[in-house]
Amino acid sequence: MQHAKLGDLDVARIGLGTMGMSFAYGSTDRDDDESIRTIHRAIDLGVTLIDTAEVYGPYVNEELVGRALAGRRDKVVLATKFGMISHTGRDGLDSSPASIRTAVEGSLSRLGTDHIDLYYQHRLDPGTPIEDTIGTLAELITEGKIGHIGLSEVGVAAIRRAHAVHPITALQSEYSLFTRDPEDGILQTLRELGIGFVAYSPLGRGFLTGQIRSIAELADDDTRRDNPRFSAENFERNLALADQVRTIAEQAGATPGQVALAWLLAQGSDIVPIPGTKRVARLEENVAADAVHLTAEQLATLDRLTPPAGAHHTEAQMQMIDRTR
Ligand SMILES: NC(=O)c1ccc[n+]([C@@H]2O[C@H](COP(=O)([O-])OP(=O)(O)OC[C@H]3O[C@@H](n4cnc5c(N)ncnc54)[C@H](OP(=O)(O)O)[C@@H]3O)[C@@H](O)[C@H]2O)c1
Repeated sequence: MQHAKLGDLDVARIGLGTMGMSFAYGSTDRDDDESIRTIHRAIDLGVTLIDTAEVYGPYVNEELVGRALAGRRDKVVLATKFGMISHTGRDGLDSSPASIRTAVEGSLSRLGTDHIDLYYQHRLDPGTPIEDTIGTLAELITEGKIGHIGLSEVGVAAIRRAHAVHPITALQSEYSLFTRDPEDGILQTLRELGIGFVAYSPLGRGFLTGQIRSIAELADDDTRRDNPRFSAENFERNLALADQVRTIAEQAGATPGQVALAWLLAQGSDIVPIPGTKRVARLEENVAADAVHLTAEQLATLDRLTPPAGAHHTEAQMQMIDRTR
């Protein structure tokens, strides 16, 4: 597996997102044993960046990752996130120093470790100046509890303000053939400041793999049912996009999911996708995208794909995404 640099942090250039093992994408086919095998296989194949969050579950995904990493902690770059759960009794987002102090102790305990390698603010907290948040994270670095600082779904202004307090290692935001928002000024700013980019939902929440052909396949408690791109009308329209990716995959001798990942990797050596899966076979397929080469013509065709119909999050979730310039 080739490696990439997020700021000064070295990671294998394809990571593993563990959210769907415990959260968001339906409970009917969850299987903790297979999920743990998937994390172990990822490590065996050279994946280093393992991504979780306090809010996934909540809490149980970190516990699962902690169980999987017992005896393997030193082989991974462990990333988790705070800020979606308030530990000070507030409603909603909370990145206040007091809440972070409680959050980090909980994450360390559930993950079974004495340090988190990359600790992200999950969403900007409008009630706390970002300088206060980053100041507290810088203290946690000094104390050895975290190694590096990340942000998620914030705009240019917040990135600059945060980076002025302490170097930011990575921004984690949605980026894929399905969601190209970071190309509008974010990636340029990160490159100017030497900050890496971690691409979440790089498979368009599974849609770009072409494996989801009807909304009826999703479990009743699958949150994609509320996602505008998966609404009845938009889903039908978006299938054309998945079909276009499949056509390129046939040309490239790869799977559609591998093409989606290879396209992301081709956007820059500072971009690290973290595809999520709870199955060993799919993990193996995703990791093999490291060796998929797309021609200039194939990349150009992918750049011109029909844009998807529908926002990439629900209205309430979009309100939490900061795009301030
Ligand atoms: N910072 C944030 O706000 C934020 C938001 C969302 C996600 N994330 C992180 O990003 C990670 C990845 O994003 P994501 O899980 O939302 O979306 P994703 O990686 O785009 O897609 C995951 C979905 O695709 C399916 N899948 C994976 N590999 C496949 C393959 N080879 N063939 C067919 N289907 C496949 C998975 O199903 P199975 O699991 O059943 O294989 C799952 O339903 C998460 O795990 C999480 O760590 C962060």
